[in-house]
Amino acid sequence: MSAQLDLLQRPPSPPRGLPIVGHLHLLSLPLHRCLSRLASLHNAPVLLLRLGSRPAAVISSHAAAEECFTKHDLTFANRPSLPSSKRLSYNFTTLVAAPYGPHWRNLRRIAAEELFSFSRLNSASSFVFNEEVRRLIRRLGSGGDAAGLFRNKQVDVRAALEELALNAVMRLTVGRRCEGEGEGRRLRWVVKEGFELARESGVGDLLPFLRWVGNGGRERRMVRLEKEADQLFQMLVEERRRRDDTLGRSRLKEEDVGEEEEDSQRRKGTIVDRMLELQVISPGSASYTDDVIKGLILTMIAAGTDTTAETLEWAMSLLLNHPQALEKARSEIEAQVNGQRLIDDSDLGNLPYLQCILRETLRLYPVAPLLLPHESSGDCTVAGFHIPRGTMLLVNAYHIQRDLALWEEAASFKPERFMETAAVGRGSMMAFGMGRRRCPGEGVAMRLMGLALGAMVQCLEWRRVGPEEVDMEEGAGMTMPKATPLEALCMPRGILL
Ligand code: HEM
Repeated sequence: MSAQLDLLQRPPSPPRGLPIVGHLHLLSLPLHRCLSRLASLHNAPVLLLRLGSRPAAVISSHAAAEECFTKHDLTFANRPSLPSSKRLSYNFTTLVAAPYGPHWRNLRRIAAEELFSFSRLNSASSFVFNEEVRRLIRRLGSGGDAAGLFRNKQVDVRAALEELALNAVMRLTVGRRCEGEGEGRRLRWVVKEGFELARESGVGDLLPFLRWVGNGGRERRMVRLEKEADQLFQMLVEERRRRDDTLGRSRLKEEDVGEEEEDSQRRKGTIVDRMLELQVISPGSASYTDDVIKGLILTMIAAGTDTTAETLEWAMSLLLNHPQALEKARSEIEAQVNGQRLIDDSDLGNLPYLQCILRETLRLYPVAPLLLPHESSGDCTVAGFHIPRGTMLLVNAYHIQRDLALWEEAASFKPERFMETAAVGRGSMMAFGMGRRRCPGEGVAMRLMGLALGAMVQCLEWRRVGPEEVDMEEGAGMTMPKATPLEALCMPRGILL
């Protein structure tokens, strides 16, 4: 009888499951779109799939997602231990990949204090962001002709935003930028190869046997990436360790205080410095090994760079296709700063429309459209359906944030909808996730993006490259990039930097 009940309460599942692969043959990229179609086809807020060897529950309604991350938040606080993330997570010890438990809680607490807290954001990050955004504007707006006149210049917006996000995150984490032909190039390679391999590893993760069949190329690339990333991060850790030793013994001589030190002094040390301090205080503790510290650097780069750069690229693309929204944002900024100076992050609280543009961008183009996978550590019931222990949870934020029942003209770009306090669907935004594994970097991301987008609108005149609208097709990746990198024409507006 109970077995029968169990069967009755299972979520709906597509009928054509095959031996071994299960429902994998039904999947296509981009995955969030494919899962959205399957959910609509089966009219299922909770859909059960068998992805190779793993059961997966796909959540496509806000109510069901809320249930997962409130009533069952603890049950779903685990991450699945996917084979590919083992290599790139220092054996599942990073903040993103660690299972729920004391190690994860400790890391999350330290990160909250040293990186994401309000006071950190107001002091350390504020200085770094203001400076990196100036560099961004100089890069985009540079290049007058021989007579010193500026004309519209075609710029690679994606490359400039990637540079902004990577440098801002590196400065917050290890206290300096990573530039130049040597380490700058190595770091960029690690980031690019890491994201590419993470995307390609998806199927191998779900069908373990495939990792041994015809997949040697990827295994070899993975080993090389792991080695290269580890060496680079170890070098950064040693550098901070040496610096802490030096600072501990004597104050730096005046002439040694470069940009990096100026940063560090303002910031009273980075999160890596704090971890190194804890390593000395608790010798032998598994919580503060060099691997855990390198994992932290890796996490900040993986979770904080592409997400931020891609969201900004979507936002700028939307503004190019909606020039009246761009003008409205510019008027708001000009009224705030009186046309006298470049905005800084203390202005952001007075620029509600700019914030609405970012929120609306994240609603339409959530760069983590399926959040990150979770896994149930016990049996539970969601939307009346039985979800057994060990089920992977995929929450389709993309689908939910375009739900017609929640959002008026769901597919349209309407930043104003977030201006109204009682906006329909307002509480259904989940681009940063929900519950205890919700993104801890939301505050950092919103500040950096607000400042960067605001400065781009304030300081530069923008035009599309051709008469046609910017193509808004989504590419397939670990995150949700724009399929074609954004290129646009821009020209400085004469704001002094
Ligand atoms: C537009 C920017 C960003 C978006 C849309 C975003 C979104 C997300 C999402 C959806 C998750 C997964 C939540 C879940 O598991 O349900 C996540 C996790 C995470 N994010 Fe972000 N994120 C952004 C920026 C950042 C930044 C700038 C940082 C750090 C500097 C960061 C650090 C993290 C970390 C460490 C986690 C893992 C949390 C954990 O597992 O406990 N994110 N983010």
